[in-house]
Amino acid sequence: MELELATDLGKLYRGDCMDLLAEMESDSVDVVFADPPFNLGKDYGRGITDEMKEHEYLDWSRAWITECARVLAPGGAFFLYNLPKWNISNGQSMLDLGLLFRHWVAIDIKFGLPIQKKLYPSHYSLLYFTKGKPKTFERPRLPIDVCRHCGKDIKDYGGHRNKLHPDGINLTDVWFDISPVRHKRTKNRGANELSEKLLERVLTIASVPGDMVFDPFGGSGTTYAVAEKMHRRWIGVEIGDCSHITNRLIGVENVVDMPNAGDSVRKPRKRLDRIEAS
Ligand SMILES: C[S@@+](CC[C@H](N)C(=O)[O-])C[C@H]1O[C@@H](n2cnc3c(N)ncnc32)[C@H](O)[C@@H]1O
Repeated sequence: MELELATDLGKLYRGDCMDLLAEMESDSVDVVFADPPFNLGKDYGRGITDEMKEHEYLDWSRAWITECARVLAPGGAFFLYNLPKWNISNGQSMLDLGLLFRHWVAIDIKFGLPIQKKLYPSHYSLLYFTKGKPKTFERPRLPIDVCRHCGKDIKDYGGHRNKLHPDGINLTDVWFDISPVRHKRTKNRGANELSEKLLERVLTIASVPGDMVFDPFGGSGTTYAVAEKMHRRWIGVEIGDCSHITNRLIGVENVVDMPNAGDSVRKPRKRLDRIEAS
C-alpha cells in the first residue's frame, strides 16, 4: 500500500481501506471513525463507485465494518456516520459482531432538501458502539443557550436554572450545533467534508492524547487534521485523490520527511493552525 504522507502522529495511505485493514493488527486502534460514501451516486473521482445495488452496498459495508471491529482494541469506540436508512443495517452488523451499543446520535441537518411524499429529512445518524465496556468516556457540556440579541437565557429550565452545572448542559444524543461545511472559503475540497467540530467532539468523548484513531475513508482528511490538533495518533487511507488531505496536513509542524518511504512523502510547508484561517 502506497504511503502518501507521514507525520510524527500519523500515516496516510492511498488505496482501498480493505487492503490496508488486511495488513492491520487486531485490537490495535482506540477509535474508529468512519464516514463512508452514502451510495447516492456522488462523484468521488475516477474508478470509485458510489452507486452500488442496495445489497452490494450493504455487503460491502458489513465487510469493512467487520474488519474495523477486528482492529478496534477492547474498550475502544467505533463511530459510523451515515444516512439513517443505511445505519439501520450497519447497526445490526455491529450488534452481530458483539459490539456494545452506546448511542444513535441524531445530527441535525440545517437546510436539507425536502423529499416529495416524505417527511422532511432533518438528521444524519452517528452510530456509537464500543468493544466491550468503554475505556474512555468524557461527557462534554454545552454552554447554556442565550438569546443572541438580549443575552438572556432562551429556556427557563422548569424553574431549576440555579441547579444547572456552571460549565453548561450535559450533551444529549441530538446534536443541533454541527453545521455543514458549505462555505467555499472554509472547504478543503468539493464535497462531503465534515465539520471539525464533529470530530473534535467525537475524539473528546472517546479518546485521550496519544490514542490511535483510524478513519478508513479519508475524504478531505478532517479526522486526521483534528487528530493532529488534539495530539492523537492516527492512520488514514483514501482510495481517490489524496491531494486535499496532504495540502491540508502539510502545514503540521511535525510532518517529517521519510527517506525510505518514497518521493510521495511530503515535507512541511506551513503550520496546521494557520490552515483554517487561510
Ligand atoms: C464521505 S467521504 C469522507 C469525507 C471525510 N469524512 C471528510 O470530512 O472529508 C468518503 C471518502 O471515502 C473514499 N472511499 C470510497 N471507497 C473507499 C475505499 N474502499 N477505501 C478508501 N477510501 C474510500 C471516497 O473517495 C471519499 O473521499
